[in-house]
Amino acid sequence: MTIRHLEDLNLGGRRVFLRVDFNVPLDGRRVTDDTRIRAALPTIEHILEAGGRLVIASHLGRPKGERKPELSLEPAAALLAEMLGVGEVTLCDDCVGDGPRKVVGDLRDGQVAVLENLRFHPGEKANDENFARELAKLCDVYVNDAFGAAHRAHASVDALPRLMGEKGAGRLLQRELDALAKLRNEPTRPYVAVLGGAKVSDKIGVLEELRQKVDTLIIGGAMANTFLAAAGHAMGRSLVEEDKLPLARALLQKADVGAVELLLPTDLRVADSLESQNPQVVGLDGIDGRMALDIGPESAALFADRVRRAETVFWNGPMGLFEKKPFAAGTLAVAEAMAACPGYAVVGGGDSVAAVQQMNLASKMGHVSTGGGASLEYLEGKPLPGVEALDAD
Ligand code: 3PG
Repeated sequence: MTIRHLEDLNLGGRRVFLRVDFNVPLDGRRVTDDTRIRAALPTIEHILEAGGRLVIASHLGRPKGERKPELSLEPAAALLAEMLGVGEVTLCDDCVGDGPRKVVGDLRDGQVAVLENLRFHPGEKANDENFARELAKLCDVYVNDAFGAAHRAHASVDALPRLMGEKGAGRLLQRELDALAKLRNEPTRPYVAVLGGAKVSDKIGVLEELRQKVDTLIIGGAMANTFLAAAGHAMGRSLVEEDKLPLARALLQKADVGAVELLLPTDLRVADSLESQNPQVVGLDGIDGRMALDIGPESAALFADRVRRAETVFWNGPMGLFEKKPFAAGTLAVAEAMAACPGYAVVGGGDSVAAVQQMNLASKMGHVSTGGGASLEYLEGKPLPGVEALDAD
């Protein structure tokens, strides 16, 4: 597979379609975390300096093929203008049709326009070729820098680049692939993976794959409840995926006979409600009808110890309901251990990134991925449609 870099593309005076992942969290019209926009700046600046006529496209949220004003890219475009130090960046009222064609046709070298949310059209998610042909009318060159969406076979990520003769990867996409390739291909050992978050079902593939790759697999967060239930503990009103119990049991058995060290929490922070201010720390058999909402201090110390001693560590998913202070300690302990780890520490997107940002620890990590689902699928060994479609061979 040959993937061209920005330097290999002829950008000057040409209309460059840049697929970014500006799927940022919003509070009304305010962007509450600008990481993904900031992460795309090196590519954006390169294209503008090269004299490209830049057409930026992204999805935002899940509007299900309908125009939803609250999911407009307007706040992201305004923030981008601020970051670029230009008065304003034109936001087209749509991503296909006469309006965008006129705006893009009027662009001069080094100017930028942002298309409206791609997912306002059903053709985006459907990977519809006709929709991709409409997008293709807006560009001469295609660049993908949307690592966070690279696992989606959607029109702007898959069908469109397949139609384009000149295409390549942006700096962010390249950086993400280089960082994660180190984990997939040549991790220095001990290699530790920490998986958390709510659902086992989201992580089945990656659990199975990592089980065979890592030295220590740590499972925390609500997904650990399902494993603890599978191991025979009474989990009270904790979130347990009943239909995943056989799978969890099978994984525990395989870990038992395999070379991997599988660590589950040994104590828990439990409460009667999510609003509780006074959770109690209990052993695994002391839940007593309540809900496990964080790992306990003994588990946090054990997990942190393994993370600090790792040569390579990958973390995805919080250890508890960390957005509520009484249940944040487990997640924060893992974040601190990641920062203290002298090895190569990679945070794999989503809520674990939010925890790391909250503690201002991002600069202490080897790599902080902008893609949650994408980094998991990559580590699982699945081909990413957004990367495959860039193949220039
Ligand atoms: C993400 O936030 O993980 C990406 O932008 C993909 O969004 P999606 O899960 O809605 O496809």
